[in-house]
Amino acid sequence: MKAFLIDRYGKNTGRLGEMPSPIVGAHDVLIEVHASSVNVLDAKIRQGDFKLILPYSLPLVLGNDLAGVVVEVGAQVSRFKPGDEVYARAPETRIGTFAERIAVDENALARKPANLDMAHAASIPLVALTAWQVLVETAHLQPGQKVLIHAGSGGVGTLAIQLAKHLGAFVATTTSTANVEWVKALGADRVIDYTQQNFENVLHDYDVVLNSLGADVLEKSLKVLKRGGQLISISGPPTPQFAREQGLSWPLQQVMRLLSLGIRRKARKQGVRYAFVFMRADGAQLQPLTELIEAAIITPVIDRTFPLEHTAQALTYVEQGRARGKVVITLK
Ligand SMILES: NC(=O)c1ccc[n+]([C@@H]2O[C@H](COP(=O)([O-])OP(=O)(O)OC[C@H]3O[C@@H](n4cnc5c(N)ncnc54)[C@H](OP(=O)(O)O)[C@@H]3O)[C@@H](O)[C@H]2O)c1
Repeated sequence: MKAFLIDRYGKNTGRLGEMPSPIVGAHDVLIEVHASSVNVLDAKIRQGDFKLILPYSLPLVLGNDLAGVVVEVGAQVSRFKPGDEVYARAPETRIGTFAERIAVDENALARKPANLDMAHAASIPLVALTAWQVLVETAHLQPGQKVLIHAGSGGVGTLAIQLAKHLGAFVATTTSTANVEWVKALGADRVIDYTQQNFENVLHDYDVVLNSLGADVLEKSLKVLKRGGQLISISGPPTPQFAREQGLSWPLQQVMRLLSLGIRRKARKQGVRYAFVFMRADGAQLQPLTELIEAAIITPVIDRTFPLEHTAQALTYVEQGRARGKVVITLK
């Protein structure tokens, strides 16, 4: 089958090549991939940034998100059958959605939202699950609470704004001038144009911050939180708790302890809870998101679409950090 793969880690590596069709285990569903989407994670995996946490063997087919059609099911699969239209974030241990086919554990899969085409469905899983795992599972965001979602025009931000509004929160976000009106239309109540204003000088008494930007923004975000607030970062630094949950070695746990020591100390001093979230695949959790999409409460946003043959260009585009919504790879 055709796939976009890397033979070694590094910037700009990767090529279109032939790979054997995946082996279908007892709990697996073999899917003909119609569309995938590019995440910053794909670029980071390509560069080798996740080598220690996710030790893949090479050659590695990249790609975490998919939408497609079931072509075969393993002996123990009960919830899916050939012909079903599905979508998923492939489990992190077995990625490879930039390919004509992939075998995915049925627990990671959900039926595709009926109102979406394959491209829009493929843009959803990783970013929507991230937003859910931050806002619902970790923050337990409540109606009337105030949340700051950084980078509201990005893949995670566009989904998180819509989910937070649905949960009844007051939503502030940061973006550049060109995207201000656009993120307001997505539902943001307060938009800080980061080219004109420093968010930490104008926002106060927030309950939750979702940080997807760098260490400087993370630290400044402490200033907008009230005592008892929650600073939740998806861009690091990882915590020892995360290292333990991932089953990482003792030395790696210590590295993560040190990496997050500064922000954990500052957060504690301010009476704020710091958490790092590393999203996970979860088909059951996609179900409530599917319902919100079908009710038109959450609408996916695609910036650009590239054919599989142009995956390298798609990765370069995402690496530039200016995407408005998601970048999709089409195979059909
Ligand atoms: N831990 C996890 O499980 C997890 C899951 C998903 C993503 N992530 C991480 O979260 C980060 C964001 O992911 P993403 O998919 O949302 O990225 P993305 O779609 O590539 O983000 C691009 C957007 O970021 C905005 N942006 C860039 N610099 C900004 C700034 N200083 N202030 C406000 N907005 C800014 C850009 O808007 P402008 O053009 O207007 O600047 C652009 O729309 C990545 O580092 C990714 O690896 C982590």
